[in-house]
Amino acid sequence: MAKSAPSFTCTSCGAVHKKWAGRCDACGAWNSIVEESPLGAGPSAKALTGKGRVIALSSLSSTEKPPPRTRSGMTELDQVLGGGLVAASAILVGGDPGIGKSTLLLQAVAQFANAGLKCMYISGEEAPAQVRMRAQRLGLAQAPVALGAETNLRDILTTLDAERPDLVVIDSIQTMWLDTVESAPGSVSQVRAAAHELVTFAKRRGVSVVLVGHVTKEGQIAGPRVVEHMVDTVLYFEGQRGHQFRILRAVKNRFGPADEIGVFEMTGAGLAEVANPSALFLSERGQPAAGSVVFAGIEGTRPMLTEIQALVTPSPLGTPRRTVVGLDGGRLSTIMAVLEARCGVPFTGLDVFLNVAGGMRVNEPAADLAVAAALLSAREDIALPADTVVFGEISLSGALRPVGQTENRLKEAKKLGFTAAIAPARSKLSGDEGMTIRQITDLTAFVGETFGA
Ligand code: TYD
Ligand code: MG
Repeated sequence: MAKSAPSFTCTSCGAVHKKWAGRCDACGAWNSIVEESPLGAGPSAKALTGKGRVIALSSLSSTEKPPPRTRSGMTELDQVLGGGLVAASAILVGGDPGIGKSTLLLQAVAQFANAGLKCMYISGEEAPAQVRMRAQRLGLAQAPVALGAETNLRDILTTLDAERPDLVVIDSIQTMWLDTVESAPGSVSQVRAAAHELVTFAKRRGVSVVLVGHVTKEGQIAGPRVVEHMVDTVLYFEGQRGHQFRILRAVKNRFGPADEIGVFEMTGAGLAEVANPSALFLSERGQPAAGSVVFAGIEGTRPMLTEIQALVTPSPLGTPRRTVVGLDGGRLSTIMAVLEARCGVPFTGLDVFLNVAGGMRVNEPAADLAVAAALLSAREDIALPADTVVFGEISLSGALRPVGQTENRLKEAKKLGFTAAIAPARSKLSGDEGMTIRQITDLTAFVGETFGA
């Protein structure tokens, strides 16, 4: 049987290969494939498995109520979850080590406990005394949360079965191990098997499970990628070192919109919610400066204004630098290629630095026009008016494409005191935006009119 044959799994994307290779065909990562011993069927795996049964889809609507949702009271978190925590759901929270996952979840668990859920926080990384110390620092020492320090999953499942909490946080999935799997904790087999046991448990017993997963660049420790498809919701906690802002982003959510974000600020007393992120991301803006453009973006369901900054300087190097923070490097190359080929604006011999202010990450194609405007503004040393927001997608032909949710973008801009917008032609406008809207059909005309290039 194929059961005894070893398989090889990519720690970066989770793809399974028949033999080892230096590079994963599926995701292109180098040196990420590790040998995995076959999954053993543990005794409890059998015990948990009930008889198969099927239910008619039509019978569901009348007899079964939708699972209840509980709000934590942390608005940003509830929003990212799609309106609160769904009972019996499995959630993965991934992020770089030290970004604040344990802090966020300890705060969340305390909030959910105060909201009436029976909560447990199981740490495989810290002793209960250390968790308590952190809770004290966060002002949560009195929260009715049960703490555990354990890494043996069998023991944890037994405890959970006896205690029947509503919500359990496992910090982190990489520290958990099952005795039925031969490899070391943190290996792909262990992470996958442990996550599978926990998710199965969540569904059978109606317990919500939050798994914390470290994302590491090295292939040694299995990234939470292998767990992503098993859970209902995948949240990533992101932020840049040196910035206190943290963004919780839903990349997958069976119970709410994906791409939803929540913004937090890391303070001396834990994570604080940021209610008006646009105002915060723009708060450091000074006088109108060349290279600075305000992008009216949408993150998930809500509008978010961010400042895109560019710096273009003569390069002393044979191959000029292209440094980009908070945006996709490939997208920058594409926009520069369009500017060069369609508008006759070359960047040869020039270093280009691009940055989204405040540690925010922008993934929308709607940012194209703002990026192009920032590059041109920096290159020509001409500042755009400070009261103008920009958005629009650029096609390879240099034409501008309208983007979704124009109305929401403009509304947010107006709320923050902007009076003008540069947007693609054919954008859906109602006519009563109360702003001056300049509609652009193609990039060449925009470049000529605005920068005279
Ligand atoms: P932590 O939650 O331990 O990160 P993770 O679980 O993702 O590895 O957060 C660690 C960082 O957060 C650490 O660098 C210190 C900082 N921090 C604060 O700034 N304020 C606080 O109140 C706490 C608890 C942590
Ligand atoms: Mg931690």
